[in-house]
Amino acid sequence: MLYLTGATGHSGYWLLERLKREQCAGRIRCLVRPHSDTSHLDSSNLAIEKVAGDLSDRDLVTKSMEGARVVLHIASIKHSTTVVDAAMRNGAEWVILVHTTGRYSKYKSASAEYIQIEDDILRMRDRIGITVLRPTMIYGSSRDRNMYRLVDYLYRHKFFPMFGSGENLMQPVHARDLGNAYYDTICNRSSTLNKGYNLPGEHALPYIDIVRTVSQALGRNTVIVKIPLRASVVAARVYNALDRNAMISVEQVLRMQEDKAFDYADAARDFGYSPVPFEAGILDEVSEYLASAGRCGTRR
Ligand SMILES: NC(=O)c1ccc[n+]([C@@H]2O[C@H](COP(=O)([O-])OP(=O)(O)OC[C@H]3O[C@@H](n4cnc5c(N)ncnc54)[C@H](OP(=O)(O)O)[C@@H]3O)[C@@H](O)[C@H]2O)c1
Repeated sequence: MLYLTGATGHSGYWLLERLKREQCAGRIRCLVRPHSDTSHLDSSNLAIEKVAGDLSDRDLVTKSMEGARVVLHIASIKHSTTVVDAAMRNGAEWVILVHTTGRYSKYKSASAEYIQIEDDILRMRDRIGITVLRPTMIYGSSRDRNMYRLVDYLYRHKFFPMFGSGENLMQPVHARDLGNAYYDTICNRSSTLNKGYNLPGEHALPYIDIVRTVSQALGRNTVIVKIPLRASVVAARVYNALDRNAMISVEQVLRMQEDKAFDYADAARDFGYSPVPFEAGILDEVSEYLASAGRCGTRR
């Protein structure tokens, strides 16, 4: 029996799609929050059993995991310790944890907690099989929290303020590639047990090219206005002081200058990881955006 968290989330959606395509007959127990939208699970025809609860409820997590051999924890690194503990108490053989490449940030405020949680857990590898999957920024539909905001911004505005040169590299990953990676990790246990994998998109792009690609996909002709880094920091300070819902914080401006490019040769070798290029993957999201409000992608 597979115990699954995060099945109702963005990449969880694509895992279920893959399980359906493969006509998976195995039992799957999903921990879902009482108010989660489970319509996708309910209509899947998979052997899904739902347990209502929250990952912050340690007793419930432990009790509900009884009988699980494999645990796939997609929901949040913040609950990984609880999940691994429950898995060990229940004698599960293998826990697959979806964490983040955020651990590689040189900004401690971004990485310290991830490193601490992950490294503490990895010390338990002598007691239970632990595989860690680390996605980069996830995109692919209105369900992502990053790219969709950029799509919306570029649709509605002619000018885009680029903090710094925009040459910093990013390698966002499509949620569908993650869903497939989860499935393939489980199916290739002899290669993937007790390993760690970064899961980025097909290739890294300078941020400025990401903006251009999205703008082009929207049929827009965005004017990118580069603001030198120092001025960007000052501007972000002022912007945050004036707007409570500011789209970007001062630290985000600084973190944006970091390259976030990752190699995935080991994932390709061990389970055939083959993510889609951003230029192709973003088209789904842009189409959804344009269709959602009857917008049209005409050039301005
Ligand atoms: N977004 C990114 O750019 C990014 C980058 C790197 C790594 N990650 C990590 O990658 C993983 C997959 O991301 P995703 O975008 O597929 O996830 P997502 O769309 O944010 O969905 C999160 C899932 O976890 C569930 N969940 C959250 N808190 C829970 C709790 N306390 N108890 C029970 N269930 C809970 C949610 O349930 P509900 O349906 O009730 O909300 C949902 O099913 C996550 O761990 C995320 O932190 C994300």
